[in-house]
Amino acid sequence: MSGQTFLFDGVAIPFAANETIAMALDRSGIRSFGAGQGSSAGRYFCGIGACQACIVAVDGIGMEACLTPARSGLRVTRIAPVSP
Ligand code: FES
Repeated sequence: MSGQTFLFDGVAIPFAANETIAMALDRSGIRSFGAGQGSSAGRYFCGIGACQACIVAVDGIGMEACLTPARSGLRVTRIAPVSP
């Protein structure tokens, strides 16, 4: 472990070198990443940027957690469901 953390909904999440945000969240036992797409809950699924199931807000911008490298000081949050 690098000893560094980012925040996920205000909770410090440790990460190792070369980990993505999704990898660090999964290793920390966090399986729900938020509202997700369509009827599916947000989660770590394909791991290659294809399914969009892992979209989270990273410093206020929607990004795939499985493609985004973890960096110290990031503020990551779940994205709330959108009402039709
Ligand atoms: S897990 Fe499929 S795009 Fe990230």
